[in-house]
Amino acid sequence: MYSEKSVEDSLKSPCKEVDMLSHVPVMADEVVDFFIGGLNEGLLVDGTAGAGGHLELLSRALPGMSFLAVDRDPAAVSILRSRFSDKPDVTVRQGSYTEIPEIMNELGLRKASAALFDLGLSSIQLDDPLRGFSYRYEGPLDMRFDDSTGSTAAELLNRMSEKEIADIIYNYGEEGRSRRIAKAIVQNRPVSTTLELAEIIDGSIRRNSFKTLSRVFQALRIAVNGELDQLDRLIDDLDSLTSVGARIAFITFHSIEDRKIKLLFRDTPRYRQHSPKWVVPGEDEIGKNSRARSARLRMGIRI
Ligand SMILES: C[S@@+](CC[C@H](N)C(=O)[O-])C[C@H]1O[C@@H](n2cnc3c(N)ncnc32)[C@H](O)[C@@H]1O
Repeated sequence: MYSEKSVEDSLKSPCKEVDMLSHVPVMADEVVDFFIGGLNEGLLVDGTAGAGGHLELLSRALPGMSFLAVDRDPAAVSILRSRFSDKPDVTVRQGSYTEIPEIMNELGLRKASAALFDLGLSSIQLDDPLRGFSYRYEGPLDMRFDDSTGSTAAELLNRMSEKEIADIIYNYGEEGRSRRIAKAIVQNRPVSTTLELAEIIDGSIRRNSFKTLSRVFQALRIAVNGELDQLDRLIDDLDSLTSVGARIAFITFHSIEDRKIKLLFRDTPRYRQHSPKWVVPGEDEIGKNSRARSARLRMGIRI
């Protein structure tokens, strides 16, 4: 995803306009196959509906079902509203997936017979310089999925201790040089833009390393959005939004998230793993969509 372009290049080249439908849904065939394998009516909740790529395919493949699309990002919700404006069977709501039980309650919906959570961020978010998710484009260091609440990545970096920054980089980015990078960040504060941060990181490891930049930016995004806490809350509440027999799929892009889902389906008495236990994208898909390369699909059934 990042390998071809240097930070220097991105400083020189103007950013391309964001194509609202440019996000390619990951492992779409596998996701659709899993859901059509056992469903023909009821509610399917897409808790991270994004640009609606998976949802569009699912709504076509499962015409007897109704759909609730939720996303934390108001910009994604605008895309969803316009994409599904002529589909009365699709209801769109802005919010975190942790709020789905309340949203369902408010809408008078019964428990879902299917749920999909495609975690992380979409290509549309990544490619929008103003969101601050990418080290490839100059932009404010924001990284919030919902920009109406919480601290930006810049605010976090400018107020946290060196140790807190190092811990985030190490724990959420699995980057071994976390202390060195955290020290350089603290020495160069305040940091306010993506490329400022990218240059500090590059300087601290004394070379261009796209892997390191990618890991640090991912770690910060996870911290800014409290992604692991959010996932824990969703897992705790999953019973309250799914009915017995419900099919549940998670797509993860990070080993910590994947482990949580593995434990959910393997060790929690009310769930069982679907077979195969997990799926990764084929070479063909990775060739067409490099963003898919670290994805893992896990499927389970509520019992
Ligand atoms: C990988 S994208 C989903 C793409 C979607 N499956 C598609 O095919 O277009 C992940 C989405 O999850 C959203 N998201 C992240 N954390 C969330 C949360 N806690 N609750 C709801 N949505 C969340 C992001 O805003 C992003 O739009």
